[in-house]
Amino acid sequence: MELNGSPVERTAQLLRWQGEACRELGSPLYGDLLAHAADDLLAGGPTADVLSEHLDARLSTVLALRMLGGAHALALSGLAPELAAYYPSAGGRVDPKDGSPDAWAALRHTLAEQTDVVRSWLAHPPQTNEVGRAAALLGGLRHIAAEAALPIHLVEVGASAGLNLRADYFFVSGSTGRFGDPSSPVILANGWQGDAPPDSRVEVTGRTGGDIAPVDPMTADGQLRLTAYVWPDQVDRLSRLRGAFEIAARVPADLRREPASATIARTQLAPGSWTVVWHSIFRQYLSDAQRTELAEGISALGATATSDARLGYVYLEQSRAGGCPVTLTTWPGGHRRVLGSAPAHGLPVNWRTLTAPASLR
Ligand SMILES: C[S@@+](CC[C@H](N)C(=O)[O-])C[C@H]1O[C@@H](n2cnc3c(N)ncnc32)[C@H](O)[C@@H]1O
Repeated sequence: MELNGSPVERTAQLLRWQGEACRELGSPLYGDLLAHAADDLLAGGPTADVLSEHLDARLSTVLALRMLGGAHALALSGLAPELAAYYPSAGGRVDPKDGSPDAWAALRHTLAEQTDVVRSWLAHPPQTNEVGRAAALLGGLRHIAAEAALPIHLVEVGASAGLNLRADYFFVSGSTGRFGDPSSPVILANGWQGDAPPDSRVEVTGRTGGDIAPVDPMTADGQLRLTAYVWPDQVDRLSRLRGAFEIAARVPADLRREPASATIARTQLAPGSWTVVWHSIFRQYLSDAQRTELAEGISALGATATSDARLGYVYLEQSRAGGCPVTLTTWPGGHRRVLGSAPAHGLPVNWRTLTAPASLR
């Protein structure tokens, strides 16, 4: 997208563009609020005050989501009750059919009254952990367990808060298959479409991962941070996230502050098991050199695989052609296949019909 005009005009265009993107991705509330915020910025209102030091921000910094994340955190913490009244995430109600003028008045008031707090959120990139993406991982695990019925040691790079390291505690339903216990606090409703993965038993016996900026899902601060970046009218995403916090409190996972290269370097294949490396919507943050390093690290690990100490590599990443393929490679052999595809937030996964090669039948 090309931005034109003065720094204020360009930032207003950026807010509008972000608002339309939020609307398309299922948040009419943020669509409305960012359209109002763009007008307010041009009129020199509280939005201008909050953003005054950031008028050179580029699209990729998602400045608008940083600002709205700060205001959302205030609403969730009880420090902006007037805004919370319009945020379903905080128990409020909103009817975006009319352009949300009351919700905007409340956000404007919050920006004016709590300028410094919201400004402090502008310094940090949004940090999310999208639980819906586990639907792709779980299908991959089913394919892996069908290839060889061995316990799985799960390793996630770019794991954020590590919530998806507990994916086997989630429930997925779909038109052609289901996974897990329907009483799980995390329900991935209609998460599987198309040709469902094989009905194999998935047993996860180890959970470890890394992230350069990990979030602790057991602390109030960590939970607030992750929740604040979910859009307040996306109640299904919020419910999945909150359910995953409950599971994280009882299912331990080893999450470390480290780059992906370090996570791969400390991974070793173990006899009598699968090691499964997984990542989602993370590769786009790597430089070309880091991508190459990751691919080489996985290949080197694959070269050590045997029929008793196996490696699976599953990922859900954006493709240049659009959409996010779910890709699986297994070793020994390095057999790579695209299992299906999903939108960036992970749901639903549309599974493809696959024909197993003779070597795997
Ligand atoms: C969009 S988030 C996705 C998080 C998680 N995979 C999910 O799907 O919810 C991208 C994550 O990648 C992490 N990240 C970026 N570069 C990284 C690197 N070189 N090594 C490890 N983690 C990295 C970020 O800190 C962030 O948590």
